[in-house]
Amino acid sequence: MTTRVMVRWILVLSSFGIGAAGVLSATNDAEFALGTPGPVPFPKDNPYSAAKAKLGHDLFFEGRMSKTGKTPCTWCHDPNRGYGDGRTISIGDPQVALNRHTPSLYNVGYATHFFWDGRSNSLEEQALFPIKHPKEMAMNLDELPGRLQKAGYEPKFEKAFGSKEITTERIAQALATFERTITENDTPFDRYTKGDKSAMSADAIAGLTLFKGKAGCVRCHGGPNFTNAMTTTGVPYANTGVYQSPVLDPDSGRMEIEKTNKLMENAFKIPSLRGVGKTYPYMHNGTLESLEEVVEFYNRGGDNGKLPKLKLSELEKKQLVEFLRNGITSDN
Ligand code: HEC
Ligand code: HEC
Repeated sequence: MTTRVMVRWILVLSSFGIGAAGVLSATNDAEFALGTPGPVPFPKDNPYSAAKAKLGHDLFFEGRMSKTGKTPCTWCHDPNRGYGDGRTISIGDPQVALNRHTPSLYNVGYATHFFWDGRSNSLEEQALFPIKHPKEMAMNLDELPGRLQKAGYEPKFEKAFGSKEITTERIAQALATFERTITENDTPFDRYTKGDKSAMSADAIAGLTLFKGKAGCVRCHGGPNFTNAMTTTGVPYANTGVYQSPVLDPDSGRMEIEKTNKLMENAFKIPSLRGVGKTYPYMHNGTLESLEEVVEFYNRGGDNGKLPKLKLSELEKKQLVEFLRNGITSDN
């Protein structure tokens, strides 16, 4: 990255309240190094086992986890849609719209904070939210173990946990274990960085160079999961100015959690970009429909002048899209 581009980024990031010193130390390439993530970390108090992951898988696809019996996690996190739902705004069980777009779950096991505003800190904690949320699965958690017992789940809990007892804690642990197996780590980009220079097209390779250089994407979407590069400076959220629909309630993003931190107003979690070719539409409110629109968005400096304009040529835009769509997205 040239000095001029670097200086521009320091200015931009300073306007997020990130000290220039933090940003300067973060220019250390290693911190932004793109590559293949190592094995997914499993917490000590909920270690991996195949039986637990299988139970979590079955619960993830189980309609009876919801009040009506018809809305499993996959209603919104559909494996055939990159574990998203393809909808602009998520639609819940009583067919009501939620406020936000369903995020993909690819590589969610590496994340340290969950939801677009980062309000949850573990997958175990997160898992019970959608089950009881009145607009999502609307299930009474006290009734859930009994219902699963009637559905014949006891032997599966016994295999996973050593005894047949069904508890909401165990349900959450099994779901979290399954979610940690949802990865997108064998993309053309991964094969390319491991030495197979024919794994990516010339356009995708040029797109990677843009991603790290002129387009500056890596400043936020860094590291092996293309996310959270700024965690080291304590700020994994950013305000890119994404257009807010007047139809929905205003969404102040991270500021809903950090209520007095003005810098977090309209700042959202920096999402991982792994598998992004399959997870359209994009952004916390699903307002950008295609990767072409996403690249146009960044090229014009985000909305509301939040980011620097990129001045990409038509060819460069195409190359960047190619990298996102076919470079960091697997074909399975
Ligand atoms: C009605 C649609 C819907 C259903 C059903 C649903 N989710 Fe979600 N999920 C969402 C939406 C929307 C968000 C983002 C909410 C937010 O940011 O406020 C989300 C966020 C998440 C996240 C955080 C991802 C991240 O990167 O921050 C996880 C993990 C998750 N859901 C897992 C589950 C599990 C497990 C189930 C089933 C028990 C489930 N979801 C059921 C719509 C749904
Ligand atoms: C200043 C930090 C920052 C920079 C720089 C940045 N992004 Fe983002 N990106 C974000 C944030 C924050 C979001 C989520 C915004 C929202 O939902 O409102 C996001 C969302 C996205 C999404 C949507 C992902 C999804 O699952 O919905 C894509 C694709 C994306 N960025 C690609 C890029 C590309 C390509 C570049 C470089 C041209 C780039 N980003 C530069 C912070 C950044």
